[in-house]
Amino acid sequence: MCGIVGFIGKRSCIETLYEGLARLEYRGYDSAGIAVLNRGEIAVEKTEGKLALLKPKLAALPQDATRGLGHTRWATHGAPNTTNAHPHVVDGIALVHNGIIENYEELKEELIKDGARFQSQTDTEVVLHLFAREMRKYKDVQKALASLIGRLRGAFSLGIMLASEPEALYLMKLGSPLVIGAGRGENYFASDAMALVAHTSRAMFLNDREYARITEDTVDVWTFAGQKIETRFIELDISSASVEKQGFRHFMLKEIHEQPRVLAAMAKRFVDHDAKALRVKEMGLEGLQLDRVTSIAMVACGTAHYSCLLGKYMIEGSAGIPVSVELASEFRYRDPVLDAGTLVIAVSQSGETADTLACIKHAKERGCQTFAICNVKMSSIPRECDATLYMECGPEIGVASTKAFTAMLLAQFLFGLALGQKRGKLKGAALEAKFTQLRALPALMDHAIDGKEPIQKVAEKYYEAANFIYMGRGTSYAIALEGALKLKEISYIHAEGYAGGELKHGPIALIDRHMPVVALAPKDHWYEKMVSNIEEVKARQGRIIAVGDPHDEKLRRLGEDFIPCVGLEDSGLAAIVSVVPMQLLAYYVAVRRGTDVDQPRNLAKSVTVE
Ligand code: M6R
Repeated sequence: MCGIVGFIGKRSCIETLYEGLARLEYRGYDSAGIAVLNRGEIAVEKTEGKLALLKPKLAALPQDATRGLGHTRWATHGAPNTTNAHPHVVDGIALVHNGIIENYEELKEELIKDGARFQSQTDTEVVLHLFAREMRKYKDVQKALASLIGRLRGAFSLGIMLASEPEALYLMKLGSPLVIGAGRGENYFASDAMALVAHTSRAMFLNDREYARITEDTVDVWTFAGQKIETRFIELDISSASVEKQGFRHFMLKEIHEQPRVLAAMAKRFVDHDAKALRVKEMGLEGLQLDRVTSIAMVACGTAHYSCLLGKYMIEGSAGIPVSVELASEFRYRDPVLDAGTLVIAVSQSGETADTLACIKHAKERGCQTFAICNVKMSSIPRECDATLYMECGPEIGVASTKAFTAMLLAQFLFGLALGQKRGKLKGAALEAKFTQLRALPALMDHAIDGKEPIQKVAEKYYEAANFIYMGRGTSYAIALEGALKLKEISYIHAEGYAGGELKHGPIALIDRHMPVVALAPKDHWYEKMVSNIEEVKARQGRIIAVGDPHDEKLRRLGEDFIPCVGLEDSGLAAIVSVVPMQLLAYYVAVRRGTDVDQPRNLAKSVTVE
């Protein structure tokens, strides 16, 4: 949450900082600000609300400034207003921060006693006053930083600019992501490499407990213990086109459309059809001792958690191994029964979700093997895990996750196959049948995306509804939960997902003639039971929006509305296809309601605070 950027070079920095912030706005959009240093003076412009509101204010900054910092905020401490917006400036020092300072209250008290005057309610200003005090004491940046390091508890990535040292910017990392970009005669830093790709492909991801000094031509990095380290630049494989909307009205719609290509690429990378085998090395599985695994615990948040609920069916079905699924925020604070035979799998698009990361640290302390299913390379969760399967679905910018969800599902499906094959549970014709169906998946996803029309009609009919219920059984249960989450997130309609069999244990009391009920009823193992649940809702005048096989006349008749969705024999793969109408329904309802689809209120793409 929060995005920070910095630039130092020989040309005007304002546009570059602004563009960088635009790439980071998915991380938070409560306020934005830019500070620049010019002729020994720091000038700052800030705004409450979205970055676009900052644009007109930037004319007030010295346009020839060649170094500066920027920030886009997701508010934690202090209201989302201009005073609390970063950069904060004290004593000719400007500072931007991503993360949380846990001991800010005690530090603030101490600093106030020392005479510090606070303008904002943020934990960030505490860091700045502390650093300014240490600068007054030591008159040396490195010594002041060393002292700061010793006092801060929590997670932070910091960018610091000093009027007294215009030739450099300083950055520090502990717990929140930070990447340095190397240009020609100019250098940059940001919370995410996406903010850099318009300018450079050479990047170095800082590790925790490292700090750096960057000038126009140099990058120096030290550990918090003060040991100078070799820089580790790599070539980024993100194209600047991949962070554009490419003609789509919203990133979310673009990302929905990318799914067939993403899944086809994953299948190609991870399956060797000639050898009729999984490519375990590419899947990252060589880094694990799979023979040791007696049970699996999956941890994740939000959409990633729902992917695991479906993953459980797929992995248990293929590999015959017990799988438990838990919200990361719950798992980390209890005392789960774990042993050396437990493989803990963290699933995360961003690889930065604080609770999921904490679970992995917890699991490692218990001697478990750890495996990540992630999208963002070099992010914190993969770096903490024994092995990682990278989905490589490209940057996901819409706050509501779409392509990462289906990629997570496919990753878990393939992981189940690999484990099943390894354990001798899955072989010969049964494995081949899975591969055959897998080959059909991208085309079916395309087909589902093309089937917009009935979904647009349903959106038009129900966009003013106050509530929605989604229901499904078996592998469709997770899709019902995900469908409800998508609708809540981007349309702000209250929606809940239920297992079909659970409705009569309470939620059926909500059903009346105003309640739209999206019923996922593919022709699978759970079909007959699901049809009974639909009948029960209908009997109470609930308005059924049935989603199922295009040739299912019975279902078509049962539903007040019908969304056709071609299935697959494998219920896991079929469920992957069936999330597409859920994504599109949420999207069209949100567009009709005029909400901010890509940046829904109160949310941020990556939740790096607990
Ligand atoms: O980056 P992660 O996959 O770890 O993120 C987990 C959740 O924060 C995320 O899935 C969130 O629920 C999305 N906004 C859902 O669309």
